[in-house]
Amino acid sequence: MDIVVEGRFLIDGELKQMAVGIEDGKIATMGKLVRGGDERLEFTSGIITPGFIDPHVHFREPGMTAKEDFGSGTMSALFGGVTCVLDMPNTNPPTTDIRTLSDKKASIRRKAHVDYGLFAALTPNMDVNRLAPHVAGFKLFMGSTTGNILMNDDNEIGYLMGDIARSGKVLSVHAEDDDMILRDREESNWDHLRNRPVEAEHNAVRRLSRYRGMRINICHVTDAATAEMAKANGFTTEVTLHHMMFAAENVEGTEYKVNPPIRDLRTRDALCRSVEAGNITMFGSDHAPHTQTDKMQEYATAPGGMIGVETTIPILMNWAMHGRFPLPLLERMGCSNPASVFSLNKGRIKVGMDADLVFFDTKNVTRIDPDALHSKAGHTAYAGTEAIFPDTVMLRGNIQIQDGEYCGSATGVDTVDHPRD
Ligand code: DOR
Ligand code: ZN
Ligand code: ZN
Repeated sequence: MDIVVEGRFLIDGELKQMAVGIEDGKIATMGKLVRGGDERLEFTSGIITPGFIDPHVHFREPGMTAKEDFGSGTMSALFGGVTCVLDMPNTNPPTTDIRTLSDKKASIRRKAHVDYGLFAALTPNMDVNRLAPHVAGFKLFMGSTTGNILMNDDNEIGYLMGDIARSGKVLSVHAEDDDMILRDREESNWDHLRNRPVEAEHNAVRRLSRYRGMRINICHVTDAATAEMAKANGFTTEVTLHHMMFAAENVEGTEYKVNPPIRDLRTRDALCRSVEAGNITMFGSDHAPHTQTDKMQEYATAPGGMIGVETTIPILMNWAMHGRFPLPLLERMGCSNPASVFSLNKGRIKVGMDADLVFFDTKNVTRIDPDALHSKAGHTAYAGTEAIFPDTVMLRGNIQIQDGEYCGSATGVDTVDHPRD
């Protein structure tokens, strides 16, 4: 046995005092007592969770690395308790063909501090079959946002859907019907909300309902009705923490400019109830960094996007410890559900799974300091928010963070093409 970890583990929604033995990066044994181990780690207080999985980040490599790169993005993830990320394709150039995908894989290979998978974006006439074996999933942008890879035409979408279904891969969708997005001048988050009404989200999902039963994942759901519609079609769903926390009545400025927009209070509250009722499959941070300079432009031209990969889980963990969010639901939406949606050998503390473990000292509540985060963005909407950051993070048995300090290396691998095998 390489390592034995003892402590209170979060296993299928329950906290259990256990010992877990790790061999070759995987959980090898579990029990009340596990003998041996070249190394033993004992956590006498706090809890140990599976590594969290963020199925939606924008790490900006290649082409926009002033905003983020794979090193800074995955370092942020690690400090947020996230040991696996799925990275979006709206880069420059966008990931839409095998050449750009291979180049991206080569350039990020030794930079990742957590495991990862990559999305390829749908474009007309793309070669789905060529890309499918090498991607975590496909991404469809039905509404325009950062990057120029909009595809909102039913015929163009329909043309690719057969191949996508046969590939067995998930199709994650930015579901805002671009034809329903207004282009009126924007000076505030209210204007942005008016330009991108919730009906645009409803209509995008309604148009996808002809693909009922396919592995479609609706990203950043902002409305309870969208979640219901998606569920009725057998689609999975993601929610961001910013759509659960913020409402247009209470926020000001480009920090909160994001697509889809921050909704009004009523919509936000109904969304939170829908999440708590278990109607949404998983959390996805939609970590979308832009530099301070990008965001300092006037509202109309400032880019949309908020960061979140480092703060989502620590904030939710604080909520869970204060009875504001159920811990079993946090585990499902943050770990086991994304693992099962994207077929990852992760997300549960169980024999045979990757030994991705996160130890939280649950009494160690801090306030988020923008300067202490690891994203290149350097600004966050969550400054001052209470959070519980991980104390120790292990990736496939490698200790990457100990006592809150980075002590690892860039050992993250692509979960689809296993370069370590
Ligand atoms: O606000 C957003 N920013 N929404 C998206 O869908 C894309 C993202 C980005 O890449 O900046
Ligand atoms: Zn999106
Ligand atoms: Zn996104």
